[in-house]
Amino acid sequence: MTSTGIPGGTTTNARLLAWVNDMVTLCKPDQVHWCDGSDSEYDAMGRLMIEAGAAFKLNEEKRPNSYLVRSDPRDVARVEGRTFICSVNKNDAGPTNNWAEPGEMKAKLHGLFDGCMQGRTMYVIPFSMGPLGSHIAHIGIEITDSPYVVANMRLMTRMGQPVLDVLGPNGDFVPCLHSVGYPLTGGKEDVPWPCDPENTYIVHFPEERSIWSYGSGYGGNALLGKKCFALRIASVMARDEGWLAEHMLILGVENPQGEKTYVAAAFPSACGKTNFAMMVPPKGFEDWKVYTVGDDIAWIKPGEDGRLYAINPEAGFFGVAPGTSERTNPNALASCRANSIFTNVAMTDDGDIWWEGLTKEPPDHLIDWKGEDWTPDSGRLSSHPNSRFTAPAAQCPTIDPNWEDPAGVPIEAFLFGGRMSNNMPLVFQAFNWSHGVYSAATMGSEATAAAVGQAAMRRDPMAMLPFCGYNMADYFTHWLNVGRKLPNPPRIFRVNWFRKGEDGKFIWPGFGENMRVLAWIIDRVHGRGYAIESPIGWMPRYDDLKWQGLNFPRETFHDLMAIERGPGGEEAHAHEELFDRFFDRLPKEFIFERELLRSRLWRSPPKWGLAREA
Ligand code: GTP
Ligand code: SPV
Ligand code: MN
Repeated sequence: MTSTGIPGGTTTNARLLAWVNDMVTLCKPDQVHWCDGSDSEYDAMGRLMIEAGAAFKLNEEKRPNSYLVRSDPRDVARVEGRTFICSVNKNDAGPTNNWAEPGEMKAKLHGLFDGCMQGRTMYVIPFSMGPLGSHIAHIGIEITDSPYVVANMRLMTRMGQPVLDVLGPNGDFVPCLHSVGYPLTGGKEDVPWPCDPENTYIVHFPEERSIWSYGSGYGGNALLGKKCFALRIASVMARDEGWLAEHMLILGVENPQGEKTYVAAAFPSACGKTNFAMMVPPKGFEDWKVYTVGDDIAWIKPGEDGRLYAINPEAGFFGVAPGTSERTNPNALASCRANSIFTNVAMTDDGDIWWEGLTKEPPDHLIDWKGEDWTPDSGRLSSHPNSRFTAPAAQCPTIDPNWEDPAGVPIEAFLFGGRMSNNMPLVFQAFNWSHGVYSAATMGSEATAAAVGQAAMRRDPMAMLPFCGYNMADYFTHWLNVGRKLPNPPRIFRVNWFRKGEDGKFIWPGFGENMRVLAWIIDRVHGRGYAIESPIGWMPRYDDLKWQGLNFPRETFHDLMAIERGPGGEEAHAHEELFDRFFDRLPKEFIFERELLRSRLWRSPPKWGLAREA
């Protein structure tokens, strides 16, 4: 067996060397390559993907140094049904996670991984989640047999030799083992996108802080620094060490006076984090600036001054492609103008990319995400709905000057927002920390893939339902405790861009116009903005938002903010169904909060509205 990669192969970390040795023995690769993170290594991964028939180099003039990759149509998204939290005790995984006994799962995984890299190269990827050497950052090592994973990890993390230097001889790391699950045993021929959908397992061992992922090469299943480490394992580390690992974007807002405020916002998958993180202020807000720190994950630690400081553990964006356009998100488009990887989008005749919504008029002819001819009348999507771009964050025009500050940025507000067609108003502020935690924990969101008919709603506490590595009831308690220890915790807000009118259309224009809501939030944070008390929280009146540049009728705003006692009561009742699943682990505060919510709704008029209150 040959070994290539980092010249001089430089680590003396005994635990790392022993682990890699063990995994070589288990997976039986033909070669081992230690990744150095260099340009030439990245180019080599591109060549390997092209040779395999999975990737195409895009037109060098239109999309420099970029690739289009097509996955197997059976391997296109995270698979929550095959994601496991294997804690020693079932109750520590909680009712919202799949669980299996760790010993049994290990035995099953050893069976699957035994010889799984035959005929392939094993890549060892040292990566840092967060700026190298930041006290908020942590190191992981991913072992994989996928060049696609290596190339993506290069964009999504800080990767290569500098990470081993920081790790040193005794440093700690999270071992992340990945295989596409397609051994080339006995000279078996390879396929463009090897995977094993029947045997896919995404497994986390929280006590051991390790990750084993088998059978998928796509996104969060395979780029193990992202959901598996930075959320599921990190949430466990955060619980034990008193910090927060969250499914949140981070942005900074600078008002015309030059005052800068950072906020973090949790929206479920495909509910607008990337858009919000790179928001372009609308007409009337020309003197305001929005800066992007991160678009998916935030690691947040208390500082010595009693404030919370956040870093973006990632170095790139893995963003939903369809719907991204010059109108909806010009900064995302600028971020992937070069040096990017596009997965499962369509290719134009001149070797560039296209997806639904990129331009108003589709091109006359494309090669679709499955490699077939496509025309506007072919009656199917040219790009998969979960097709994505991988782009370096540094290429984002709005990237914050402090985005790589190892100390993090101070967070002054948390926003939580699901996709709710009915009943949930545009924005409200929680009365206090525990009410805010309650509001975030009971957040609902409608299924994003639902094509037609009634939108199915699920509770997605803090947008973390698929990502919390332990019992969610304990996670709620942890949130309550974090706030309790802070002299002046960040303010908490709920937002909803997705309320629909009787015509079935969104009432709120959204996107850049969300700035109007954000500006009110910033004012509230600094004790300036006015609000009145509604049954569910503090709310802005029409005149408390800045409307210059937008003609948005007062009555429509009142529709957007209305709270009806009937549906409100039903909503509060439905919280019980969520809570019942947690039994005695649920924090007692939540029972009180629910009773308070019910009584406030009960005391309010059947149709509470700003029109009569203001
Ligand atoms: P993950 O990367 O999956 O965690 O998701 P994300 O939250 O970053 O999702 P993204 O920003 O890619 O969400 C895209 C979807 O949100 C698209 O369907 C957009 O049209 C929609 N969206 C984003 N902002 C708005 C908004 O302000 N209003 C409306 N109506 N839709 C929005
Ligand atoms: C999400 O599903 O929330 C994502 C995409 O951000 S993935 O990294 O594939 O999980
Ligand atoms: Mn996400």
